[in-house]
Parts: sequence; C-alpha cells; structure tokens
Amino acid sequence: MRKNFFWGTDTSAFQVEGAWNEDGKGESIWDRFCHDKRGNKVYHNENADVAIDQYHRYKEDMKLLGSFGVNAHRFSVAWTRILPNGTGEINRAGIQYYHNLIDEMKSYGVEPFLTMYHWDLPQALQDRGGWVNPECVDWWLEYANVLISEFGGKVKNWITYNEPYVFIFGGYSAGHFPPNIQCYKTACQAGHYAMKAHFETVKLIHEKLPGAKVGIALDMVPRVPATDRKEDIDIVPLANDTAFYWFYNVMATGEYPPLAVEEYKKRGYMFEISDYDRKLFKENRCDFIGINYYSTMAVQYTESEGIDGFHYLPVAREDKLGIIERDPEGLRNIIRKCWKDTNGEIPIIVTENGCGGDNDHLDEDGKCHDDYRVEYLKQHTQVVKDCVNEGIDIRGYFTWSFWDIFEWSLGTGARYGLTYVDYDTQVRTPKDSFYWYKQYIRDNTVE
Ligand code: FCB
Repeated sequence: MRKNFFWGTDTSAFQVEGAWNEDGKGESIWDRFCHDKRGNKVYHNENADVAIDQYHRYKEDMKLLGSFGVNAHRFSVAWTRILPNGTGEINRAGIQYYHNLIDEMKSYGVEPFLTMYHWDLPQALQDRGGWVNPECVDWWLEYANVLISEFGGKVKNWITYNEPYVFIFGGYSAGHFPPNIQCYKTACQAGHYAMKAHFETVKLIHEKLPGAKVGIALDMVPRVPATDRKEDIDIVPLANDTAFYWFYNVMATGEYPPLAVEEYKKRGYMFEISDYDRKLFKENRCDFIGINYYSTMAVQYTESEGIDGFHYLPVAREDKLGIIERDPEGLRNIIRKCWKDTNGEIPIIVTENGCGGDNDHLDEDGKCHDDYRVEYLKQHTQVVKDCVNEGIDIRGYFTWSFWDIFEWSLGTGARYGLTYVDYDTQVRTPKDSFYWYKQYIRDNTVE
C-alpha cells in the first residue's frame, strides 16, 4: 500500500474516556442507561464511569499508539463534554481535552479521524425528545459548528455518525439501547431527522473547511440466505433493505431503498420527505463511505413474524460458526457493492473491522495469545489488499480497537483490543495481535 493509505485503529469517547462527570461534563443517555438499575440491560450492571480512564491517561495511551506505527486513529467526541446540556453553555475544559488529545496524537504523526457522534446523546436533549424531536437538526448544527470552529484547523477527516442504523433502530425500535423506545415508526422518523442533520453537516464542512473530507461510518452486516431454498433466497433483498441498507442507500444514491420504502408505506411507517430534503441528500454526498464490517448474518424465511415483524429470522448454518458468522468474503462483497452502487465515485474507508472474544487473558508468561484475532485480521486485511488491487479506491483500514474497552451492553464482557487492559489496575499489555498488526503495517507500506 502507498504511504498515504491510512492504517488505523479506532475508539469512541464513551467506551474509553471514563471521567463521566468530571470537569463540567454533562450526562449522556449512555451514562443514564448504565446507572439506571431498574431492569439494567448492561452486563453485570456495569457502567463506564471509569472505562479505561483515557481522559486521565491520554498521554500514556497516545505514546503507545505513536510507537505502534499507525498513521491514523479514529476517536469520537462526547457531545456532553463540549455542550453539557446539548445546547447553550460551552464547556471550555471539555474542548481543551480534545485539543490535547489531537495535539498529542499528531505529535506522533498519527492523523486524527474525528467522529462527531458515537451514540452518546446528551441526556438533556433526550429529555426534550432526542432524535424524535424535529428540533434535533438545529441542536446538532449548534454542536457541529462548535466542533468545526474549534478543531477545523487541525482535523482534516470528519465522520458525522458512527452506525446510524444501530443508534436509531437499536434505540427507538428494538429498544435494547437507550432511549429504550420500541416503535418502528418512531425509529423511521428519528432516522430521517438524523439524515437531515448529517447532510446539513456535510454541506457545512464543505463550506467552512475547504480541503477537509467528511464521511460517515456505516454498520454493514450483509444478510445472506441460510439455505438454497427459494423462499430463503427471495427474502434476502428485503432483509437487507429494511436493515443496514436503509441508511447505506441514502449515502450511496441519495435515496432510501425502494423495496423498504414500499414495505414501510404499506405498514404506515413512512414519513414526509420534502423537496428540500431530496435536494439536500442528492447534492451533498460524502467524500468517503466508511464501512464497519465484522460479520455476515444468515437468514431464513419464516411464516410467522420474524425480526421487526418481517418474515425472516437469523439462523446458524451447520458448516459455519453460528448466527453471526466470521466471513471475510462478506467484506469483499460489500466493498464491491458499495463501489458499484456509487459508480466508482465515492472512495471507501474500512472504518471498523475486528474481532471480539470473551476469553482473552494474560497467560503465565504474562502475554495474551490471541491467535484467533491474528487469523481474523490476516483474512480481512487480505481482502482489502485484493480490492485495492482490483482498482477500488480504498483509502484506509482501521481496526477496532487499539485497546480493550467498555463494550456497550456487553460491558467488560467482550474484548476487541490489540492491547489487553486490566480493568482493575488499568495496566495495558500488548497482545500477540498488536505485534502482528505492527509488523504487517511495516511490511505493507511502500513509498
Ligand atoms: C461497533 C461499534 C463499536 C464497537 C464495535 C465492536 O458496532 O461501532 O463501538 O462496539 O461494534
């Protein structure tokens, strides 16, 4: 790969920072979700009040990252550190923290990729309806403007949202994530407001920061037929369109996917799309599409109500690993699809790819031997290289994550890091995958 190819790693604010109420930070919906003991949905009732304490340890953490050899790192800003109430009063201490973090990263030659939103909405805005309130577009733009004027001089790569399908449908339809609402129609409406805010932001960044690049990180879990029975094959397009293709299609083409629109109309889920929105979506395309890819989902037709009332259910295939499968070919297919759907006009970045485990530990030799992760990374980085060789414009590959971090509802129960973190002592220990990726980047960078 050329020197300007971004070999990176990722994190998000809520999952690493801790210091949940320090230096003027406001409460986010994820803080509230973890603290709420009534029917707490987080592994062992854990919370991320301390997480991996990066708020206090960023210097040490950036030093390790700097020694590693990546030339990019993706992190997110906590809206509640910048505007504790979501709008209004600005918290200088929070802004200073991100200046420090960015400066530190850059001092090691690591390019910052700034995610503006990785799920931690200010609770104060949730109290006003969150993403369901049409005013959320204005709240968002107030926040976006602060980020742009503060960090626009140092940050060249911006990501509006991480995985809108997850925070909108997980929060407002499935309800397993905050704000725990279970209404598909509400989720569709909330998603449209989020799309409006996204496209306004693309426009704003292009106007205010010429030369900067802005994209989005989309979760991609391709649905494939569980068997070669006709009904299983036939259900796949709808299963994709009503899941992550819903927002993906808007990014690729400026429109919601027709099959799902038709279905949502029948069910009364559709919302108003004004001429202004249509034009906004068409005219403000991203500079890159970020693909977050982990796995594929095998689905089969079901007569009775399946996921979200659609006629399909995920199933384990006998020859594979389980419901959610490790499948490097899925990454190849989705990269090719994305390139084709955008007529080869929008570059791609693999913004997340990685492998979680519930049994990573330090052995007697004091090391973490995570061979399964090394194997996973080998297979998926090979796919990326193949796609670049095919002529697809891929600008970077980011692995999730550099450290073991607080894994949302799974808390400390799933580790994705290249670096093992002892959550009691906060000691960081590079795993075997750390050394593998470090060497891999060296071997795969040419002038
Ligand atoms: C993605 C999220 C990220 C992390 C990984 C494992 O869906 O964006 O925060 O939880 O999964």
